[in-house]
Amino acid sequence: MKVSEMAESLLGSHIQRISNEISDLQKQGKKIYNFTVGDFDPKIFPIPELLKEKIIQCYRDDITNYPRINGTPELRESVSRFIKHREHLDYSPEDILIGCGARPIIYAIFQTVLNPGDKVILPVPSWNNNHYTHLARAGRIEVETLPEENFMLRIEQIEPFIKEASLLALCSPQNPTGTAFGEQDLIKIFTRIVEENKMRMNKGIKPLYVMYDQIYWMLSYGATTHFNPVTLIPEMRDYTIFVDGISKVLASTGIRVGWGFGPSGVIDKMKSFISHMGAFAPKAEQIAVAEYLNETNEVNKYIEWIKATINSKLLKIYNGITALKSKGYKVDSIAPQGAIYLTVQFDLHGFKTPSGKALNSTGDITTYLMNEAQLGLVPFYAFGSNQESTWYRLSVGTCRDDDIPVVMEKLEAALSKLS
Ligand SMILES: Cc1ncc(COP(=O)(O)O)c(C=O)c1O
Repeated sequence: MKVSEMAESLLGSHIQRISNEISDLQKQGKKIYNFTVGDFDPKIFPIPELLKEKIIQCYRDDITNYPRINGTPELRESVSRFIKHREHLDYSPEDILIGCGARPIIYAIFQTVLNPGDKVILPVPSWNNNHYTHLARAGRIEVETLPEENFMLRIEQIEPFIKEASLLALCSPQNPTGTAFGEQDLIKIFTRIVEENKMRMNKGIKPLYVMYDQIYWMLSYGATTHFNPVTLIPEMRDYTIFVDGISKVLASTGIRVGWGFGPSGVIDKMKSFISHMGAFAPKAEQIAVAEYLNETNEVNKYIEWIKATINSKLLKIYNGITALKSKGYKVDSIAPQGAIYLTVQFDLHGFKTPSGKALNSTGDITTYLMNEAQLGLVPFYAFGSNQESTWYRLSVGTCRDDDIPVVMEKLEAALSKLS
């Protein structure tokens, strides 16, 4: 059946494909520790009890009609207070747009600031920027980031492309790497963007916008501090569109409440995308989230718990991988800084399995780990890295504490069988 060229070449999610492979193995009765999905097991990470009660109450109160297209005033006011209190960002409720999760906000950003053929600078690995660029019929400038730089983009890497780009897609803490930008690296990037945009303004050219996806920002660990463009360089306010929401920090991926904020002229146009797609967050959820976010003590308690719980799992696995590395196995990991992910390396190309089969590709290694260690991970090529990248994303959203020593044992056994 003929469809548009854009739809014809639109790719599905790689991660979904790996998840399907895992489901098939599980259907055959095989136990798999599935650390592939950027989601939470609600039995391990339930949403805040008070939020749940408030959502149920809103439905009991028959809050079931259309919300305003840019979000209920209650939620936009609540988000405005929330970001002022927690991030010292001053945005009025009119400059905040609510969507059914962060994804429609991201979609609307790409559609709003890009013309067909415009270019987007995106780091690889990164989450889904390739698909949103494709949907906007724009071109990609993919910049491969480096393990020694925690897979975070540097100004030197993007400098050659700044003049031709219309959008820079950034995320911190980052999916898939669980690493975050440092202050000085961001200052260098944004200083250059302000300079570029001054020049563009003089010539009447569309600025280089920055999408700043900070959906994991409240999940930052240890000494990691979260920085944002506008606090660092106030002139960035005219060019920065923020992405945020409750999906990750409140383990509420299925509740579907996200938001964006930025310059009025951009947010106002993005509103129309949300409206025409009907990508509103349900009104009951919006009212419930608005009330919940105002309960500062409850929110603080929940965030403290979820951060400690995620960080402890990330650190246990990180320490386990580091111990395997010190035993001489060809594995490595980057210390976790944020989000729900750990970056792990399996440098196993060329090794032979007990049956004599050589691990020739990342796909072979992924399958070996799945079959022998019962461990499901997502290789970085699923996030745009080159096919031979030896790095993987491990998500702890579905990881039980009891699983960790078992997984480490199975992993060591699987690695020890390679020659
Ligand atoms: C970086 C990043 N942004 C946005 C999202 C989407 O969030 P939502 O579920 O609110 O649409 C995700 C989900 O995995 C993500 O990792």
